[in-house]
Amino acid sequence: MTYPAHLQIAIDGPAAAGKTTVARATAERLGILYLDTGAMYRALACMALRTGTDADNGAALARLMQSSPIEVELDDSAQLGFRIKAGGDEFDEATLLSNEVTAIVSTIAAHAEVRAEMVNAQRRIAERGPVVMAGRDIGTVVLPEAPVKIYLTASVAARIERRRLQLQQAGVDVDAHRLAEEIDERDRLDQTRAISPLEPAPDAHMIDSSDINAQGVVDEICAIVGRL
Ligand code: DC
Repeated sequence: MTYPAHLQIAIDGPAAAGKTTVARATAERLGILYLDTGAMYRALACMALRTGTDADNGAALARLMQSSPIEVELDDSAQLGFRIKAGGDEFDEATLLSNEVTAIVSTIAAHAEVRAEMVNAQRRIAERGPVVMAGRDIGTVVLPEAPVKIYLTASVAARIERRRLQLQQAGVDVDAHRLAEEIDERDRLDQTRAISPLEPAPDAHMIDSSDINAQGVVDEICAIVGRL
């Protein structure tokens, strides 16, 4: 498939809507780079837990990012589809998805100082080539000029089931009731924060994946790319 040299595909949406699966599969199909930006916020949450940095202290978190930058290596053979390191450690999926990290990541992501550092880092990564980037503010803030923007949603029931499977496969303990509360609370925090809240870009294509599997969503995205 041919596509513009500057192709950027921004995929945003609420927690567990299937963004990472769809973004990775789209990147594979098109042979372009893939990055899940949620993993960068989760890596910072891991660093905060390891160093005892307060999740409420945005300035201290930004200092932590400056002293131990989050390094991302785009490598589609890696477990996550990329490698993510900071402070000499590489983070695996089970660590990034752990309950301790999930509990603080939305608080960490709400700080203006943290978001400024993250957005800069993500834009630098996008300079490496055509990319599919998944997150909450990719189409609105990180890559506002992206020619393809997707806002991916799914019913709460579908999202709970997907996250349950993802956690199970990563070997993280799950409790379905707690999962529902956690997803609900993170959506609330992500949608109501003052800086770059989760919202669709005005020019985003809205896709509800409740009744379509990941390949179906990838087909839709590739059809949009084909019309560019
Ligand atoms: O996609 P995820 O569940 O791994 O994201 C973890 C948290 O990171 C999420 O609750 C909000 C935050 N996040 C963000 O604020 N902006 C992004 N671009 C990606 C994630």
